[in-house]
Amino acid sequence: MTRPNIDIARVEANLTALAEISEHPAPAVTRVLFSDADLQARSWMQARCEEAGLELRTDEAGNLFARWHGTDPSLPPIATGSHIDAIPNAGKYDGTVGVIGGLEAIRSLRKSGHIPRRSIELVVFTAEEPTRFGVGCLGSRLLSGVMSSSHAQTLKDDDGLGLNHWRSRAGLRGDLESVKLNPGFYSAFIELHIEQGPLLEAQRIDIGIVEKIAAPAAFRAILTGSGGHAGAVLMPGRKDALLAGAEIALAVEQAALTSGSPDIVGTTGVFEVKPGAINSIPCAAKLEIDLRDTTTPTRKLAEHHILTKSSEICKRRGIELDWETINSDEPAICDPALVERVSAAANTCGLSSMKMISRAYHDSLFMARITPVTMIFIPCHLGYSHRPDEYSSPEAIANGIAVLAETLRGLSE
Ligand code: GLV
Ligand code: MN
Ligand code: MN
Repeated sequence: MTRPNIDIARVEANLTALAEISEHPAPAVTRVLFSDADLQARSWMQARCEEAGLELRTDEAGNLFARWHGTDPSLPPIATGSHIDAIPNAGKYDGTVGVIGGLEAIRSLRKSGHIPRRSIELVVFTAEEPTRFGVGCLGSRLLSGVMSSSHAQTLKDDDGLGLNHWRSRAGLRGDLESVKLNPGFYSAFIELHIEQGPLLEAQRIDIGIVEKIAAPAAFRAILTGSGGHAGAVLMPGRKDALLAGAEIALAVEQAALTSGSPDIVGTTGVFEVKPGAINSIPCAAKLEIDLRDTTTPTRKLAEHHILTKSSEICKRRGIELDWETINSDEPAICDPALVERVSAAANTCGLSSMKMISRAYHDSLFMARITPVTMIFIPCHLGYSHRPDEYSSPEAIANGIAVLAETLRGLSE
């Protein structure tokens, strides 16, 4: 058995071209859902899939599907893919390696003369990142039925604009109900992604094979206090929303540190204050809190502590607290047979591999509700991700694509 041949020069050129479509200058990459950059990146990606001779379909959420037809249309296809949207000031590899790499895996199989019995479909998911509406994996949540179309219609951005407003910019005006796919629509989903953590590089392992994806939850706290003149209002009478928010952020850290679960992580990644003037007491604050663990009960316990503590802080400070759960998800267990397939594919490619947990979430978390999944991780430098200096070497990327291609080859025969 030989390792699939990967045109890594083409992959690198595509990653660079895609990274140039950004709201922020290089090396930063920013592509917020349905922004001009996101729309441009979508058409760029469609052109690459057309060039490769794949059949394209876009659903009403903007998920893109590019299919290489197999010889037996009665068989459910195998899917691979990831996302091309990017949080503000991200790097060029998160998501894109799975999309451009997925396309390259298909091209490499085709060039090798492989004739798939099962169709192979590349999926480019809408809004894996929680950029515009604060909720991640919007496309795969809708596709798997984890989010209903009526819930999706209630989402609003910071300016009060909803999903219909934004998706119409991409020419999408149809019924979101049609996005949901039935379980069994795909025979399997395999996502290639950078690790976003330091383990593979540190242990000099070529390939990570994901057995479990940690369960994320996200919360929004809107704090309303009372503003006023920073010089004239004396300290005892204040209702400073920022100070309550600061205590809440510390309570998040504390809940994660003391929960007893080794895998729990808590982050307050958004903290906005109004009016945002040096000589004005902050009258309002918005916090967005990300909490993750590999088991739901331990995460829910920490969640309970954070909410109890936040209510206590706000009561003590005379602040009104409006608490919203943005999402509260279950972990995904990957399919053991697929994990073994990928492990065998890594062996065939002459690469070392290890099984691991994904602490980041991915569209695979939701695809797991409708089909067997696993993920192929490749090392990224120092585990950097969600920052402009994110980096995976051409060798690491080629290794990941080769293992993906080999896995798709086996599964499509
Ligand atoms: C996905 O980008 C995540 O935040 O895990
Ligand atoms: Mn990401
Ligand atoms: Mn990603």
